[in-house]
Amino acid sequence: MELKPSLSLILPLIAFAVYSQAGYLWKLVSRVDIDKARLVRWENSTALNNQDCQVIHAADACEDVKIHYPSQTAFLGCGNPIERTHWYPCAGVRTVERRAESSFREQLFKHDLRTGQTTALELVGMEGDLITHGIDILPVPEEPSKVHVFAVNHARDGDSIAIFVHELGSNVLRLVKNVKHPNIKTANGVVATGPLSFFITNDHYSRKGPVRMLEEKYGPFTWSSNVQHCDARGEEVFCKKVGGAFPNANGINLWQDKLFVGDSSNGTLTIFQVQEDKTLTNLKVVDVGAGADNINILPTTGDPIVAVFPTLENLPAYRDNVRTLGKEFLVPAAALRLDHTKDYAPELIYFDDGSVISFMTGVAADPVNGWLLVSSVLQYGGFAVCKVPPHAFA
Ligand SMILES: *[C@@H]1O[C@H](CO)[C@@H](O)[C@H](O)[C@H]1NC(C)=O
Ligand SMILES: *[C@@H]1O[C@H](CO)[C@@H](O)[C@H](O)[C@H]1NC(C)=O
Repeated sequence: MELKPSLSLILPLIAFAVYSQAGYLWKLVSRVDIDKARLVRWENSTALNNQDCQVIHAADACEDVKIHYPSQTAFLGCGNPIERTHWYPCAGVRTVERRAESSFREQLFKHDLRTGQTTALELVGMEGDLITHGIDILPVPEEPSKVHVFAVNHARDGDSIAIFVHELGSNVLRLVKNVKHPNIKTANGVVATGPLSFFITNDHYSRKGPVRMLEEKYGPFTWSSNVQHCDARGEEVFCKKVGGAFPNANGINLWQDKLFVGDSSNGTLTIFQVQEDKTLTNLKVVDVGAGADNINILPTTGDPIVAVFPTLENLPAYRDNVRTLGKEFLVPAAALRLDHTKDYAPELIYFDDGSVISFMTGVAADPVNGWLLVSSVLQYGGFAVCKVPPHAFA
């Protein structure tokens, strides 16, 4: 039996489950029991494709990275590690008064893979907060010199998806629309389906308050996270839930008519067929053996590559050691490729003890020029560019 999240019903049941520790009550409130041994499949891996990496210090705390292949430009959503330990609602820290006022404007960067130059992009037309998380890019149809950049934004007054237009080669992001809707609530990842439409993941049921505390302490629950599709072409924004029952939906990406969703608590990557009306049909759940974060697509094959946590995630410890993350405090990092010709069996494409990038949340590959970009939501020196042998993605 599964309950619809009617909070007035669920809250007392959770309270009673906490009190009695009765297994059937936890089932009744749809708590997901995860065998943690499933999440450390890659923990003893040896170093792979991390020998020739350069950590970039021009940007910090880059949760996500996407590559625009024709211009060999990477786009990143970044921020301030220390300020994120005060207030970053997606990471369970909400002491808003401890965060410096000026830090509520985080930044999006571009990195030119040909010159190695990293540039903070100037935001034009965007008012209020910008607190970054997942991002996506989409070429503008009929205008090859432009891309749209989609950014999850955790503003103090609620989450939104900020859509910008960027002229390639420029240093400017011009706001097209800052999309808000009650269903954009605890956004984590975003993938564009058109210039003004997109899928997002919500990683929790509640943004703050007692329900969120319960989720963080006793979750995950199957009703906690979901996938939404939003259409923001008109004046009125429409969002609808198209997928649910994830313990902790996180990274999301699209290849043709297939949608990939990573789960950071259950260590899975779910593959959906996207229907004409953007509803989803479940094709396959791949157990990837580690908490799964952001996803990119290998452009030569359409295979998803995903940043995973090879050891059990310990967010409080990472927050406490944010200044030394990737220096004295190391968190092993891994990336997997799910080869569609092998029924999406996961294979390791990157492993590092954390001295390049610790608490790695993003990975993107350029298989033609042999680049692997890895990034971290909390590290000073927010991303790294690794040169990999040409056969790495054969
Ligand atoms: C990793 O190595 C440790 C120590 O030898 C061992 O206890 C553990 O089971 C190994 N993990 C896996 C997934 O094989
Ligand atoms: C968690 O992952 C396991 C292993 O793939 C899967 O069998 C199970 O259905 C998943 N649980 C949920 C609630 O998604």
